Amino acid sequence: MQPLPRLIIATRNAHKTAEIRAMIGARFEVLDVTCFPECPEIEETGTTFLENARLKAEGISRVLEGWVLSDDSGLEVDALGGAPGVWSSSFGGQEGNNALNNACLLEKMEGQKHRGARFCCTMVLAREGLEQAHFTGTVEGWIIEEPRGGQGFGYDPLFIPDGFDQTFAELGERVKNTLSHRSRALAKVIDYLDHC
Ligand code: IMP
Repeated sequence: MQPLPRLIIATRNAHKTAEIRAMIGARFEVLDVTCFPECPEIEETGTTFLENARLKAEGISRVLEGWVLSDDSGLEVDALGGAPGVWSSSFGGQEGNNALNNACLLEKMEGQKHRGARFCCTMVLAREGLEQAHFTGTVEGWIIEEPRGGQGFGYDPLFIPDGFDQTFAELGERVKNTLSHRSRALAKVIDYLDHC
């Protein structure tokens, strides 16, 4: 049997890798940069999801062979003028601290009637240090007033997708993966790779 082609995800976020692995099925051997200690830390200095996704995919594909896929994603809240956006992972003041990020979001949304928001994801596929293609996905919804649910990560306990009455953290990975920003971008990635 032929070995599966390798797809390296340019992330150290185990939740992102798990979601992508579950969605991509048996097409690829999905690894992330935690498997490669030689991988450099890529600084996300861009001001858009695309700039950051490009930095990560191109940076990692300079040192690893084969397809590298990056995901830059975040939450845009209408009442906050699109914040936290690309700064979603450090909104509360400490990179990657989900509890602080969620508390900060709830504080800024206190008393706010208009609670519309969306998750956005941009993915870049790169090889040999160069972007080959990029893809986007979004999911619309709204921000509730108290966290609900214990699954998922990040802002999942505060976000209810349109058409549902449970948060992503209550709906769980199986349902989330059918409608999330990441799954919508990834469907386009899979279609692209299937035609390569
Ligand atoms: P990145 O690693 O720079 O792309 O930052 C992504 C940040 O956006 C995460 O740390 C979360 O705060 C937020 N985020 C992105 N996707 C999701 C998701 O699917 N659920 C909840 N939060 C997310």
